Amino acid sequence: MTLTVRSLTKSYGAADVLRGVDIELRPGAVHALLGPNGAGKSTLIKCLGGVVAPDRGEIRLDGRALLEMTPAAAFDAGIVTIHQHQSLIDTLSVADNIFLGSELPRLRGGGRRGQQRIARELLARIGADIAPETIVATLPIGTRQLVEIAKALRRSALRVLILDEPTAALSDRETQTLFREIAGLRAAGVMTLYTTHRLGEVFRIADDVTVIRDGRVILQGPTRELTPDALIAAVSRTGAAPAAAGAGPAADGGAAVAELEALAGPRFGPVSLSLRAGEILGLFGAVGSGRSSLMETLGGRHRASAGRALVDGRRHAPRSARQAMRRGVFLIPSDRVRQALCPTLSARDNLLLPCLRKLARAGVRRFRREAETFREVAQALDLQPRNPELPVERLSGGNQQKLLIGRVLAQRRDVRVLLVDEPTQGVDVGARAQIYAALAALARDSQCAILLASSEAEEIVRVCRRALVMRNGVIVDELAGARLTEEGLLRSAHQFVGRA
Ligand SMILES: Nc1ncnc2c1ncn2[C@@H]1O[C@H](COP(=O)(O)OP(=O)(O)OP(=O)(O)O)[C@@H](O)[C@H]1O
Ligand SMILES: [Mg+2]
Repeated sequence: MTLTVRSLTKSYGAADVLRGVDIELRPGAVHALLGPNGAGKSTLIKCLGGVVAPDRGEIRLDGRALLEMTPAAAFDAGIVTIHQHQSLIDTLSVADNIFLGSELPRLRGGGRRGQQRIARELLARIGADIAPETIVATLPIGTRQLVEIAKALRRSALRVLILDEPTAALSDRETQTLFREIAGLRAAGVMTLYTTHRLGEVFRIADDVTVIRDGRVILQGPTRELTPDALIAAVSRTGAAPAAAGAGPAADGGAAVAELEALAGPRFGPVSLSLRAGEILGLFGAVGSGRSSLMETLGGRHRASAGRALVDGRRHAPRSARQAMRRGVFLIPSDRVRQALCPTLSARDNLLLPCLRKLARAGVRRFRREAETFREVAQALDLQPRNPELPVERLSGGNQQKLLIGRVLAQRRDVRVLLVDEPTQGVDVGARAQIYAALAALARDSQCAILLASSEAEEIVRVCRRALVMRNGVIVDELAGARLTEEGLLRSAHQFVGRA
């Protein structure tokens, strides 16, 4: 009763992505699949889900070889996969997505009402407070992830659950709920394989660990035989633990670049705050706390409904992202891969998209200058592979994330305020340190102000000297100095605070 992968091999042209991977999933065990960005994790998962055909090797379930795998065949065998970049249909409701392709017959408790009832139960099981009739397009990215998970749970003959970075867009609290559900499945004998870049999770939930790098297994075994240090070294692309990035610059004396005065908008407000030149201000809050909506409003995606915002002393009420950027306000949203990446364009064109005109002379592209900018940014963020011509759909998930952060770095001279939501989702530990360093350099060198929203307390503590905590759309606390700790942030975000 196991799922066994033997000598799995896959190449794309000259790129050997999997070079003979062996893995065994045990019933009632959670197996963490780790490795740096581009290691081949998603490719392995696509092979297991029947999305990609391996070149060589075999996959056996209970000793029986799974041949001619297709997504439908994998599903019939009880293998349910949730892929890294989500597959829900935006224009349908949550319930319709959950039942897509496997609608219940009306007579067996189906129909719209019945499906909504079951959807509501599934969502409640994983602690997701979402109405089944909500249209998916209106949900924040973390919430969509929960819908995908509910959809997978509907599969009653679930034998193998495979999740590619399920927690990247989830807050600590939602992650806990998901883990509780996974633990329940484990008790029911389900085999779970899941990938993450959050190493702390491994010690909380995983029974077994496999680390791959460059398509090869470099560490494998039971979690209890591993130390955190050994794990960190294994998942770093260089094989050594990355240097810790210090906190961003302090900006006690900096002038205010942006000021919000009782600003309100969709799902938030009134919010008042001041962002200083050269500062990275943290904005901590769970998914749904209103932090993304606040950032999106400043970035020109929504209109504010009350109050006002000032940037460099001038009224800031953008009608579009383009207008916000013209005023120097740039948003890197959390759903950037879906919203902002053009999958078939090259890495270079994606990186330079907003500044192609600026790099050109009299409307003619200057390829050498573009290449220089690409090289510089790709190096700062360690983009892999560093091939400007590669269509971005062929980059690994983490490298797509790096590219979209790099897009703003390429325009750094124009940035007055940078709003960055979950800057390191899907990014490996090594690249995280590079992103933090790049943000700190941006704040210091350009004296711009950065507002960094995150649902990871650890990230805020590492990068910021001052942080605001948001809950139910309003700021409930400000932490700085000795009070700015992970515990302090979590306590403020989740418990009643007298000052709220
Ligand atoms: N269709 C493709 N054509 C060419 N190369 C590809 C293709 N798909 C993936 N690759 C390459 O295969 C390598 C492994 O990618 P994969 O998505 O499996 O990495 P990953 O371990 O999931 O990384 P991440 O943590 O960033 O999600 C990467 O270098 C990627 O660029
Ligand atoms: Mg991946």
